Amino acid sequence: MQIAESSASLREQLEDWRRSGEHIALVPTMGNLHDGHLSLVEIARQRAERVVVSIFVNPTQFGDSEDFANYPKTLERDKRRLKLANVDLLFAPNIETMYPFGIDNATSVTVPVLTDELCGSFRPGHFDGVTSVVSRLFSLVQPDVAVFGEKDFQQLMVIRRLVTDLSLPVEIVAGPTQREEDELALSSRNQYLTDEERAIAPRLYATLKDIAEGLQSGKRNYPEIEQQAMGELAGLGFKPDYVSIRRAENLGEPDRDTDELVVLAAAHLGKSRLIDNLVVHI
Ligand code: PAJ
Repeated sequence: MQIAESSASLREQLEDWRRSGEHIALVPTMGNLHDGHLSLVEIARQRAERVVVSIFVNPTQFGDSEDFANYPKTLERDKRRLKLANVDLLFAPNIETMYPFGIDNATSVTVPVLTDELCGSFRPGHFDGVTSVVSRLFSLVQPDVAVFGEKDFQQLMVIRRLVTDLSLPVEIVAGPTQREEDELALSSRNQYLTDEERAIAPRLYATLKDIAEGLQSGKRNYPEIEQQAMGELAGLGFKPDYVSIRRAENLGEPDRDTDELVVLAAAHLGKSRLIDNLVVHI
């Protein structure tokens, strides 16, 4: 596995592959890799001859009170896992490579409206950080395909919007959410949970499944369902930001006849903020 830290060494390697007509798939990550990330690498493998994984803990997508400084960094372990997964190139840029003029002077890319809601309303500026860094990664790597997880459903929608709106020549592929045996979605943030919190955490997805069952049996009083679920989560010890039933296609407000729904939730549990979602076909 090649490792590139600068844009020059990245380009050198990529040019070789492009010259021989090989396609490139990119899996952007912030490291601290788990089986969820590696499932995206597998998808990337099937989509292109060459797989690039990026690891960059992007400061611009963290709020002031969030966990940027403490975000777990496990680069040596990540490298070993990526090698075993037959990744061709690890792009692990430093901050100067990603933001040559510094964070405060950086050009930023905004997808409006869609990013004001759900997680966007609780994490102002977060999605601007994501779209800005992903735009940079796309310019640097120029992948044919990029793979993102459905776990971050709103992020996936925002990236799709970015790519369509700017006609970026990259195909966005989604990978299904990987879960623990008790169905807790894999996440770097699960490790902040105490044993007691870890035992409660799967109830977030269980709540989404209960809602899905209700929808499938004909319930349509969305605001009431959302409020009830928030109350249940609070009763279990979560501090829910939102539980929301939306159109799966574009995260818009559903009406009674919408048949492709997504139930999304974000809730704090101890030091962690957990998110999850479930697509429901009616
Ligand atoms: P990170 O949280 O490291 O996630 C990297 C990718 O892994 C994202 O596409 C995310 O949706 C996916 N992922 C996370 N948990 C998953 C799981 N349990 N199953 C399947 N896929 C999962 O998301 C980011 O980094 C950043 O915002 C990034 C896009 C890299 C921009 O900085």
